[in-house]
Amino acid sequence: MTGGLRVALTGAAGSLAADVIPGLLERGHRITAIDERPLSALPEEVRTVECSITDREELAAAVASSDVIVHLAGIPLEAPWQDILAVNVDGTQAILEAARIEGISRVVLASSIHAAGFVPVPPEGEFVPDDVAARPDTFYGASKAMLESLGALYNDRHGIDVVCLRIASRFPRPMDERMLSTWLSPDDATRLVHASLMISRPGYRLVWGVSANSAGYLSPRGGRAIGYEPQDDAAVYASALAERSAHDQTIGLSEWERRFIGGEFCSAEPPRFIPFAEREQS
Ligand SMILES: NC(=O)c1ccc[n+]([C@@H]2O[C@H](COP(=O)([O-])OP(=O)(O)OC[C@H]3O[C@@H](n4cnc5c(N)ncnc54)[C@H](O)[C@@H]3O)[C@@H](O)[C@H]2O)c1
Repeated sequence: MTGGLRVALTGAAGSLAADVIPGLLERGHRITAIDERPLSALPEEVRTVECSITDREELAAAVASSDVIVHLAGIPLEAPWQDILAVNVDGTQAILEAARIEGISRVVLASSIHAAGFVPVPPEGEFVPDDVAARPDTFYGASKAMLESLGALYNDRHGIDVVCLRIASRFPRPMDERMLSTWLSPDDATRLVHASLMISRPGYRLVWGVSANSAGYLSPRGGRAIGYEPQDDAAVYASALAERSAHDQTIGLSEWERRFIGGEFCSAEPPRFIPFAEREQS
């Protein structure tokens, strides 16, 4: 694909979108921002559509005339199965179906490390391949495995290029020792999404969404193959984290984080999603 694409971006009021939208605009893309929450905080040149991805008619109208869909909308943590099913599974199918109906040839899907969370942390110096088989750690992770599976279906059956980004830990900076291995910086997130838009005819791909961390164990190969060149390394924050860990027990590696790439999501108490409406009330 060539520069200056018309990008329909779902989940545009979310935190990952806030990281990537400015950089995509700088790189010449034109964005239609889609979210069910208010989108007033976005730059003026962004077209905004407030709708749920589960409303198929509104969604089709919102993505029409786009070159590509970047699908970030979803429940990003553990939640009741019926909610996950409606938003993350049915919502993703709605996105891919809208792409098929509207003749959109590429979809970039936000998957997650939690699609493969029960994969063991490899020995030092070894890497988990981008396309390691799904081993979900939660209903959330299972919905991302289904997202990947739907992506494969729409590629094989309908020829739509589908790049699934298995995002690890996207935060402004690493928050704990695990993220020395799994951090995805905001700038690298932008580089990753841009690479997914620009690579010529990717077909179906699974790619780790991770920065160039010295302590990383997620393979950089899938990223390199689509032209993603991460620039950031969580090691820059290692000494600050070590200092804080002296008086904050949440920073060091837990047993789950030593064993599985999904870390605490593999425990009996995975981090749970609190709906935005409830957060505003509290
Ligand atoms: N942040 C991370 O570290 C991380 C890691 C792995 C995967 N991901 C994935 O990346 C994506 C974005 O994550 P985030 O951290 O920005 O989450 P977020 O919660 O900040 O943003 C998600 C956005 O999706 C919107 N949304 C939810 N349901 C919707 C619906 N039915 N219709 C329209 N919009 C809807 C929400 O309003 C929200 O603005 C998610 O799919 C998440 O699973 C994120």
